[in-house]
Amino acid sequence: MVAGAPAAGQQSPRRKLVVGNWKMNGDGASNAALLAALKAAPGGEAEVSVCVPAPYLHDVSKALHGSSIHWGAQDCSSHESGAFTGEVSAAMLAEFGCCHVIVGHSERRAMHGESDRLVAEKAAAALAHGLVPIVCVGETLAERDGGKTEAVVGRQLGAAVDLLAKRIDGIVVAYEPVWAIGTGKTASPAEAQSVHAFLRKLLADAGAASRTLRILYGGSVKADNATQLFAEADIDGGLIGGASLKAADFIAICQAAG
Ligand code: PGA
Repeated sequence: MVAGAPAAGQQSPRRKLVVGNWKMNGDGASNAALLAALKAAPGGEAEVSVCVPAPYLHDVSKALHGSSIHWGAQDCSSHESGAFTGEVSAAMLAEFGCCHVIVGHSERRAMHGESDRLVAEKAAAALAHGLVPIVCVGETLAERDGGKTEAVVGRQLGAAVDLLAKRIDGIVVAYEPVWAIGTGKTASPAEAQSVHAFLRKLLADAGAASRTLRILYGGSVKADNATQLFAEADIDGGLIGGASLKAADFIAICQAAG
């Protein structure tokens, strides 16, 4: 993909960003085929990145070097180095040319007990090494049904705002309602926009550069719903799970972003 400059007259000051979250999927051969297809696709105006399992970073960095596609990881340690068996540091990710690192994905919050504070610390570690943390927030179905969506995502993002202070401008936020991840249920464009607008206001009230800070939507984004979601004023792109594993689907989503 070859990225172009934002079109003249484009209203949003924010360039769209589409990030593939491969989760724990892939192998050497299928990754190579997927990346070759992505590289061969005509580029649009959106920025594109793939967040891959850490053991593939070397191969992915070689495959994407010189292309317009960025790459990154799906988690990092909040620590610099030391006795943290199984962890990967932000410095290590930077050494492999990562641009992005996802932190606080709901699967890690739920399965690994990651707290809001720990997620904020991971974002701080990423920023300290020149990476862009993609800070994920999102409510469960019970929380949405209980009218707690804004309280939950506000608390989650608030922890990052508090810890990062001025550095908050360096992050990307991803709103991913837990009930929409991998379920085929997507938040309607209006539902998603309403939460995105809430998050942008929270950032503005905290003194962040909220006009330029990007807020992605994630949760069952597909080629056939991406255009409508990305047309909303405060949706600056997507964090794509399942559909990022199929070249044609991911390319179509990237094209929907411009
Ligand atoms: P999904 O996953 O697109 O498969 O719903 C999104 C995510 O978990 O980042």
